Amino acid sequence: MTTADFVVVANRLPVDRVTGPGGDSWRRSPGGLVTALEQVMKKVDGAWVGWPGRADLDVEPFDFDGTLLVPVKLSSDDLENYYEGFSNDTIWPLYHDVIAAPRYRRVWWDSYVRVNRRFAEAAAAAAADGATVWVQDYQLQLVPRMLRELRPDLTIGYFHHIPFPAYGLYSQLPWRRQVIDGLLGADVIGFQRVADAGNFARAVRRIHHYTTKASGITIPLQDGGHRIALAKAFPISIDADGYIELAERPDIQARAAEIRESLGNPKKILLGVDRLDYTKGIRHRMKAFGELLEDGRVEVGDVTLVQVASPSRERVQAYAQLRDEIELTVGRINGQFDTMTNTAIRYLHQSYPREEMVALFLAADVMLVTALRDGMNLVAKEYVATRLDNRGVLVLSEFAGAADELASAVRINPHDIDGMKDAIVRAIDMPAAEQGRRMRALRRKVLENDVARWTRDNLDALDVARQAKLREQ
Ligand code: G6P
Repeated sequence: MTTADFVVVANRLPVDRVTGPGGDSWRRSPGGLVTALEQVMKKVDGAWVGWPGRADLDVEPFDFDGTLLVPVKLSSDDLENYYEGFSNDTIWPLYHDVIAAPRYRRVWWDSYVRVNRRFAEAAAAAAADGATVWVQDYQLQLVPRMLRELRPDLTIGYFHHIPFPAYGLYSQLPWRRQVIDGLLGADVIGFQRVADAGNFARAVRRIHHYTTKASGITIPLQDGGHRIALAKAFPISIDADGYIELAERPDIQARAAEIRESLGNPKKILLGVDRLDYTKGIRHRMKAFGELLEDGRVEVGDVTLVQVASPSRERVQAYAQLRDEIELTVGRINGQFDTMTNTAIRYLHQSYPREEMVALFLAADVMLVTALRDGMNLVAKEYVATRLDNRGVLVLSEFAGAADELASAVRINPHDIDGMKDAIVRAIDMPAAEQGRRMRALRRKVLENDVARWTRDNLDALDVARQAKLREQ
């Protein structure tokens, strides 16, 4: 097999398999990571190792737009235990501060180990001599160490896209030592927030008593020597210029006007855009909005809430249950407050192309990001980037990683329903001058720290690690 100097390893490949009249084909998937790495992959001799998105799909490595894609086959049993089980029913709730109860099942863990090994082996086979391999996210926390054992010549990075919890929670994990050891196999371990990197360093100290400093974690080696791993925050971002270009397009602006029209031209449109996930605080948001209607502080016809909840992990029970709860709540609120001509909540359990999302952002006066816990939340940044006229208000949970950078948003604690109600009313009534002041500050942040910078910072840190490795040889 051909090998590459730069290899990305992620649970998903950057393409989706689509079935059309002419048979199956591959289409670039719309995710943030894919956009982030698109430019880099074009410049380097790159490969991407990942799951092709369907059970039991057996595909040989193939070229897609100049990148070698290396599919890792997952059986329906792997999906049930490694993906739905350990990744999304153990790690996901535990790392999001146990908003839902994590389930600890040994068969899930065994599958996680087996599948992580398969990814590590595929990456080892795809990497050229002395290559750099960049592992992504919580589904693959054991890969860095497995890969280091298979290929000590590689420089290994890992980026953690979700929160890393405080030790009091992390220590619940029956396999806490193995997971820490897995991650410590990387030379650079990236996190979203400074607090996440701090939680990780504390877990390392509690489990291993290693020395952890801002300059790196000292890991003792068998031969009496040591190596250094860097654990640091690199907040992820968006392709801000790409969003601006879309927001400038007359057809997308016309579509935004059409959306407003189709909602009956309310004075204010509130918008929520989330994967349908219990971490996103969608129920809390609905509760606050429902109470505002009930209190008469908000009137149907004047204000409409548009909620896009894109389908996600539907076979995991907590997700199926959340969908039922949200849909019941939306039905109740609309049943009580809708009129023949206007709706309280326009609820859409669908995914939309980026163009339509930008039209929605342009149509929305207030963006509600009310996550109970979120690694970053790119929707907050996308909304800000599209507000070319510096109008609009971002209501942002302090429990989203984005809150570190986006200090000029209207910040909320989503657990405090009264506080959230006041913030929503304040956002609806905010004078244009204050909107402008806040939005300008937010836009400066997002445009300065775009995804190109995130990628560059990560790759620079990996390059420093690679140079250090070369000096040692
Ligand atoms: C989050 C995770 C990603 C994941 C995405 C979609 O953003 O950090 O790793 O890919 O959700 O979830 P899914 O389970 O569909 O891949």
